[in-house]
Amino acid sequence: MGKTPNIMVIDDTATNLAVVEDILAKQGYEVRPFPKAAMALRAVFNDPPDLILLDIMMPEMDGYEVCTRLKADKTVRDIPVIFMSALTETIDKVKAFSLGGVDYITKPFHVDEVLARVNTHLKLMQYRTDMEIKNRELERTLSELKDAQSKLVQSEKMASLGVLTAGIAHEINNPINFINASARALKKKLGKIIPLLERIDKETAEEKISPIIRQFKEDTEPGALISAINELTSNINSGAERSIQIVKGLRTFSRLDEAEKKKADIHQNMDSTLILLHSQYQNIISVRKEYGEIPDIICYPGKLNQLFLNILRNAVDAVKSKKEPGNDESIRIRTDLIHQEGKEYVRVEISDTGPGIPEEIRDRIFDPFFTSKDVGSGTGLGLSISLAIIESHGGWIDVKSEVGKGACFTIYIPSETS
Ligand SMILES: Nc1ncnc2c1ncn2[C@@H]1O[C@H](COP(=O)(O)OP(=O)(O)OP(=O)(O)O)[C@@H](O)[C@H]1O
Ligand SMILES: [Mg+2]
Repeated sequence: MGKTPNIMVIDDTATNLAVVEDILAKQGYEVRPFPKAAMALRAVFNDPPDLILLDIMMPEMDGYEVCTRLKADKTVRDIPVIFMSALTETIDKVKAFSLGGVDYITKPFHVDEVLARVNTHLKLMQYRTDMEIKNRELERTLSELKDAQSKLVQSEKMASLGVLTAGIAHEINNPINFINASARALKKKLGKIIPLLERIDKETAEEKISPIIRQFKEDTEPGALISAINELTSNINSGAERSIQIVKGLRTFSRLDEAEKKKADIHQNMDSTLILLHSQYQNIISVRKEYGEIPDIICYPGKLNQLFLNILRNAVDAVKSKKEPGNDESIRIRTDLIHQEGKEYVRVEISDTGPGIPEEIRDRIFDPFFTSKDVGSGTGLGLSISLAIIESHGGWIDVKSEVGKGACFTIYIPSETS
């Protein structure tokens, strides 16, 4: 044991106090004798001893009462209490133990017995303290290990996802541009034929129409053909336009610039992330964007994409996990600029109409590997990574949820603009 053990002795009989003090002091212990229970209690709280020897029969407050009060307070309840009683008193041993006493000594005192019991309990206490320290160390190591592992898994996952999406975007980009350019050219060329078709459609004077044209007019109905051409070309155009947006989204999403801070438009990040998720929520959930006036901020854009993807995917999963999703299921994304303690922050609020987060798991959702999803469908890393990303920007996140109504995650990122 490091420092000299400090033992408190509480007994209203002066001779008893003196005898015990003498026995313990000779062993090198620091002894603090108290003839009055109330005074001793105050001293315990001010300067907790390592062990307490406690007389049972005392005026004003007996030993049982003292023990009960000690055990009721979590700062001192672990101090071992050994009861002392004279042979003439009938000690209620069961009561002594049930109140939290660890042992008892009978008077008159036998030196060896007192020392044996005191030494044993001091040692036990020491073992317990050592074990608690080891336990805390183990818990810390375990959580560091989990953190490291989650970062590793995530960086692997993101690196391969980034490479993959960048590759796909690159591959699709050329043919899509090709289709888009051809569709425009086709529309232009067809534009030249349409006036002719209109003339054929409207021409009624038989003598002005050749037999071939007449046959064509009968077979084809030029009016309907014009509408079909217009509709089909505009379909091709909007399809190609949308594909271009998707490719753009993929490219923004996969920005492989993790190590570098850059100025970025958060709304653009959000949009490219929504494009990636579109197929998972279309027709089930409507996404309402309420974008406010926010400046471009200096951030890690790739990481922010990852952050938005994690939170949005959770929202989509949450709504889809409802047994009977209604017609008005939605995810709302709100952004604005707020001021707090003289600093500016971009606030991004993502709320959903899912089932909400049950009270009993709310404290754990940011823990690495915590998931309520089925084995194989969630790794439980999304939110812990998100938290790390937010912290790497010097921001923070708030969660509000009403069970049955939905959840709302609010992210605050310092608005650094230069
Ligand atoms: N919008 C939400 N609504 C309800 N519960 C949520 C929501 N977001 C997160 N949770 C709860 O928090 C848990 C942890 O989320 P987290 O994103 O860290 O992991 P996951 O989604 O389970 O798995 P992963 O994201 O790694 O695939 C979820 O399993 C879920 O129970
Ligand atoms: Mg998740």
